[in-house]
Amino acid sequence: MSQDEPNKHRLSSAAARRNLLCGTALCTSDLSAQPLTRAILRDCNLVTPEYELKWDVIGRHPHEPDYSAADRLMAFAADNGLAFHGHTLWWHEAIPESRRANQSMDFAQAALRHLERTVARYAGRLRSWDVVNEPLEPAHGRQDGLRVSPFLAAFGPDYIETAFRAAAARDPGAILVLNEMGLEYAGPEAERKRRHMIDLLERELARGTPIACLGIQSHLTALEQPRQHPAFRAFLRTIRGMGLSVMITEMDVSDHLCPRDPRQRDRIVADTYRAYLDLVLDESRVLAVGTWGLADFSTWLNAFRPRPDGARQRPLLLDRAFRRKPAWHAVRAAFLGADNGFSAHQARS
Ligand code: XIL
Repeated sequence: MSQDEPNKHRLSSAAARRNLLCGTALCTSDLSAQPLTRAILRDCNLVTPEYELKWDVIGRHPHEPDYSAADRLMAFAADNGLAFHGHTLWWHEAIPESRRANQSMDFAQAALRHLERTVARYAGRLRSWDVVNEPLEPAHGRQDGLRVSPFLAAFGPDYIETAFRAAAARDPGAILVLNEMGLEYAGPEAERKRRHMIDLLERELARGTPIACLGIQSHLTALEQPRQHPAFRAFLRTIRGMGLSVMITEMDVSDHLCPRDPRQRDRIVADTYRAYLDLVLDESRVLAVGTWGLADFSTWLNAFRPRPDGARQRPLLLDRAFRRKPAWHAVRAAFLGADNGFSAHQARS
């Protein structure tokens, strides 16, 4: 597929029809993969660093924050007119080794200094930030469903307000996102999490915490993610009623439950993308749809959710040779609101 491919065939053009951006996670090692950067420039207008803006990466040298990798990704985006989604300022899984044993006071100061310095560094140059990532864990047993984390220990339940106010003060133009996983799943635990999220957002918005958008990670599982999902649909309606927009921040479709045959897998994965996007686009004011990688060769799922048969995962929009898969066509069709008559053979054209 050449660079001069007509615009209308690009994912980002289809997404523009719905006034939303379309993007992917990217890491510095991807910058040397020309077929991938070409594919990104052809189909995307938004990128998210897979790990270069996480505190454990920036803060791996206790006294000298290292933004070099993030700067390279930011430069790639700026040079190519791509919007940039910052991921993520405060996440319990991305705390520098040197800070994990910190006493609350030191931890609080370090965490806030990191947030303020990082937001100030990129102020006016990125579109949106995942300010806090994965705040809820009902299994931790708290009344409010908050995850027990060093941030909660250091600041108390006000840590979300503290983080968002500090980010807003240093980059008033950025869209501030509260990012979470598991809100889109089926089952009682997901329903509990959705309820906790609504309560959390009501509490925070009532006290003026500048949360503008809910980030829904959307790490889906083919053959497990329900097509009709009335509970999730109702949740999205409530979020919209609160005046909040939504971002799909890390979408991919794990095929670890699917049969081994790649064509069958690709078919099921594509249908999962289509059904999910149709539902979310139907109910929400979506600002952007981001996948967690664009081509199968770089998916984190081979490590995080390996297939029992050892075959490599095929969860993304392009195959290992950067060819468009049925999933790419399904996402485009969802953006265009094309009727579901879209058939498999079209996908291989
Ligand atoms: C993952 C990366 O993809 C992996 O390479 C890394 O080892 C761990 O983190 N939710 C998030 C992302 O918010 O930051 C995670 O990314 C995937 C789950």
